[in-house]
Amino acid sequence: MESVITRFSRVTDCSSIKKLQTQRDLQSKILKFQILQKEVIVAKLKKEMIGVLKFEFLWTYQPLITHVFIDERYRRLGIGTKLVQYLEKYLIKKGYQYVFTSSYEDIKDPHKWYEIQEFKPCGVVDKINLPDSTSKEIFFYKRLS
Ligand SMILES: CC(C)(COP(=O)(O)OP(=O)(O)OC[C@H]1O[C@@H](n2cnc3c(N)ncnc32)[C@H](O)[C@@H]1OP(=O)(O)O)[C@@H](O)C(=O)NCCC(=O)NCCS
Repeated sequence: MESVITRFSRVTDCSSIKKLQTQRDLQSKILKFQILQKEVIVAKLKKEMIGVLKFEFLWTYQPLITHVFIDERYRRLGIGTKLVQYLEKYLIKKGYQYVFTSSYEDIKDPHKWYEIQEFKPCGVVDKINLPDSTSKEIFFYKRLS
């Protein structure tokens, strides 16, 4: 969708991000901190918040996408892809060579989507989702070019 704008989030986006995303229990002060750290990218259609991507840095240097969520009404329109591409462009500019992500091993849809984004599986971690879930976590990586 041509008219969708992707950009780093601003603190003023906080409430619309919280309305949109599944992490509803996320505290506003944590979200604000992530925004100020430049670790939240949003997709907007006119004034409407329709997608969010969050990332952080493992061990302070390895970029890890932690959350991608697109409003159900706007899925399969390339918006998730656009958010990932925006992040990749930024990371390349900053000199990073790899980006990582992860997802529950037993939920297959995100795996397919990450594989379409050219991420490759690179390992499974057991017990990392305890105590909320017994699911293993599968990790993916992508070489940036
Ligand atoms: C997964 C998600 C982020 C994808 O975003 P999206 O904007 O709908 O995806 P895109 O339009 O960029 O998809 C590009 C291609 O990936 C594939 N794809 C997209 N969603 C898929 C799904 N649920 N299952 C399998 N393949 C999928 C399709 O081939 C699609 O191209 P096509 O529509 O031309 O066939 C979105 O469905 C979502 O928010 N899901 C709920 C949260 C989630 O699972 N997040 C990911 C893990 S944190």
